[in-house]
Amino acid sequence: MNISFESIYDREGKPTTLALAVLYSHLEQRAPDQNISHRSMPTWEQHAAFVGSKPYAAWHLVYDHVEVDNTDEDGKGYPQREYTCIGQVYFTRAREIGIQISDAYWRKGYGSEIITKLVEMVPRGPIFANVSPRNIASQKLFESLGFGVVQWTYRLDPVFFDEPLYQGHPAAASRELPADVKTAAPEEPPSDFFGMVDDD
Ligand SMILES: CC(C)(COP(=O)(O)OP(=O)(O)OC[C@H]1O[C@@H](n2cnc3c(N)ncnc32)[C@H](O)[C@@H]1OP(=O)(O)O)[C@@H](O)C(=O)NCCC(=O)NCCS
Repeated sequence: MNISFESIYDREGKPTTLALAVLYSHLEQRAPDQNISHRSMPTWEQHAAFVGSKPYAAWHLVYDHVEVDNTDEDGKGYPQREYTCIGQVYFTRAREIGIQISDAYWRKGYGSEIITKLVEMVPRGPIFANVSPRNIASQKLFESLGFGVVQWTYRLDPVFFDEPLYQGHPAAASRELPADVKTAAPEEPPSDFFGMVDDD
């Protein structure tokens, strides 16, 4: 394994077209149980705007390279390096890791290697990962690297109640709310909500 990180931003701080395309394809690959931030697929324009807003402290595509022995027309051998993009990793300003490996490269040790490398690169301090309760692979990955659970994040969101849970899931009890609570549509808070009144 010879992994290297490449920032998704060019020298002017703009995302490269290649990076935008790779990241968009990664979004398409993600299953709902792997994701706690996106509910639906953004349009290309929304995606480009989000990535262009530099939402994270660092965001990299991750490559692996292999040395291949090629032969030219005269039968002379020459070694060549072949690079493959195997995934992406980011680090937020709140010191959270986000990682995604393309399906074809799962369970080959890339996740562990990438997180270990990232932890060495960033300034010392606590590092966090937000993982869906249904994402067992990710939970096992972080636990195998010494990360421990520090909190359960609860969310009251009418839309969320429509998502299926596996049998015996610890959140199942929270589904036992009255039907009108489950189906209530989100509302805009009144303008003086929490005393936030506009003086103008
Ligand atoms: C989660 C993810 C990053 C794991 O990457 P990976 O390269 O497959 O992980 P590794 O090969 O380094 O696995 C390291 C350890 O994690 C655990 N693990 C990884 N995938 C697992 C799975 N599907 N089931 C159970 N344990 C798993 C194992 O303990 C594994 O060690 P082992 O192979 O020696 O048993 C990858 O599955 C992925 O990109 N998933 C989609 C995106 C995602 O869920 N991102 C995380 C959001 S926080």
